[in-house]
Amino acid sequence: MAATVLVIDGGGRAATLAQKYTQSKHVKKLLVVPGNDLIPISSKKPAKIFPHLKTTDTSEIVEIAKQEKVDLADVAQDDAVACGLSDSLTKAGIKVFGPSKSAGQIEWDKAWARKFMKQFNIPAPSFKIYRSEFEGIKFIENQKDGNWFIKASGLAAGKGAISAKNKKEAISAIKQMKNFGKAGQIYLVEECIDGEEFSAFALVSNEQFQIIGFAQDHKRVFGKDHGPNTGGMGCSSPPRIVSLKVEAQVKSIIKKTVRGLSKLKRPYVGVLYLGGMVDKNSKVWVIEFNARWGDPEAQVILTSVKNDYFELVAAALKGSMPKIEKDNKYRVVVAAASKGYPGDYSEVVGKEITGFGELLKKATVFGAGAKYEDGRWVAAGGRLFYVLGEGRNVAQAREMAYNALSLVDVEGNNLHYRTDIGWRDVARFYTK
Ligand code: AMP
Ligand code: GLY
Repeated sequence: MAATVLVIDGGGRAATLAQKYTQSKHVKKLLVVPGNDLIPISSKKPAKIFPHLKTTDTSEIVEIAKQEKVDLADVAQDDAVACGLSDSLTKAGIKVFGPSKSAGQIEWDKAWARKFMKQFNIPAPSFKIYRSEFEGIKFIENQKDGNWFIKASGLAAGKGAISAKNKKEAISAIKQMKNFGKAGQIYLVEECIDGEEFSAFALVSNEQFQIIGFAQDHKRVFGKDHGPNTGGMGCSSPPRIVSLKVEAQVKSIIKKTVRGLSKLKRPYVGVLYLGGMVDKNSKVWVIEFNARWGDPEAQVILTSVKNDYFELVAAALKGSMPKIEKDNKYRVVVAAASKGYPGDYSEVVGKEITGFGELLKKATVFGAGAKYEDGRWVAAGGRLFYVLGEGRNVAQAREMAYNALSLVDVEGNNLHYRTDIGWRDVARFYTK
C-alpha cells in the first residue's frame, strides 16, 4: 500500500512519529498538523506541515483528511483528544489511531479518572473532589498536618498539579485553583505518594494491548529536580526502576483499565500512558493516565522499536496486536529550551539558534519550537528541540547527547537544558 498518514501534534512527539511513519515501507506521504519546521527538512519522504492550524481546528483537519485521502490519522495530542477530533475524523470515514473523547476522559478529567480507578480497583492515591474553595479548605483544616497534591481536574498544560508540604501550603494551593479557569472549577486533594516515577506506554485496541516501553521523564526545569514543572526536560529509557515485578504490576493495571473502559462502553484505541510511582515496597501507584504518547518519552521509546510502526498501528486497528520488537540500546533525550521556559521566554523568541546546522549533521534531533526563518534557525517556543543519545548503557547514551548539545547555543546565552538527565540510572550505573 502507498499510504498517506496524518499526525496531529506539533512538538518533538510529532517529529518522532513523523520519523517512524516515514520509515515505513507502506507510507508514501506524511501530513502533520501543525507540525514544526524541522519535520519536512529531515523527512526522507514528502512531508507537509500546517503551521497555521491548531490541533483543535476540527473542521479544517477533517477537510484536509478528506481532500488528501488520508489512510490513517494519528491523534497524538491531548487537546485534540479532549475536543473529540478522533470522533469527528472517524465520522468522516477516516481510520484513526487515538482515543475517542469519551475514552480520553481518562486524561482530560482527573476527577473522572480517579473515580474510574476506584471503581476498577486500580492502585491510586486516596483523593477528595471539590468544587467549592470553602469545602476543600475545611477538609484540610480537619486533617493532621501532611503532604498533599492539589490538582485542577481539567487540562492545564501540565501546570495544574501543586505540591503542598503542609496545611498552609495546601490551603494556598486550593486558593490558586481558580487561576486555572474552567480547568480548576473542579479540583482534587490527593494523598502524596512517595517514590520514584516512571512512564509506561501501551498500544491499545479495545481490550487487547501490548506494552511498548518505559521511560523516566525529568519534569522539573532545573537540575536535581528543582524549579517549576514543565512538559518534560528529558527522558532516559529503559529506566532501571522498572523491574520485572514493576512490569507485572503495570500489565495488570493496564488490563484492568482497558477492560474497565470497555465495560463502560468507552473502548480505548490508541496509545495509553500510565504515569506511575514505585514506592519503597516496590508497589506501583497510578499518578495519572494520559491518552497519548508522552513528549519526550516518545523520543526514547519509539526510536527503540524495530517493527514498522505503520504496520503495528494498522494491525492494532484491525484488532490484532503483533509482537513488538525492540533493540537493546539505552537512550537519553535532552530537551533544549528557551531560557525562561516554562515561564516567560518572550525575550528569547526570534533569537538565532547558533550551530544548529552542525548539530543536525552530527546527531539525531527532533524539532519543536525551532523555526526556520530567512535562512536561519530561530527560537519560536519554549522547548525548542530534543537531542538523542544512544549507547550500550546510560552513561554512553548521555555522553552522546551532551557532546552533541555542546555544539549549539541561542544568541545571547539564551539556551537552557538540564545537564543531569538520566541521573538516577547514571548513579546506579556507577555504584553497581
Ligand atoms: P500531573 O499533573 O498529575 O501529571 O502531576 C504532575 C506531577 O506531580 C507528577 O508527575 C508527579 O511528580 C507529581 N504528583 C502528582 N500527583 C501526585 C501524588 N498524588 N503523589 C505524588 N506525586 C504526585
Ligand atoms: N512528558 C510528560 C508528558 O508528556 O505528559
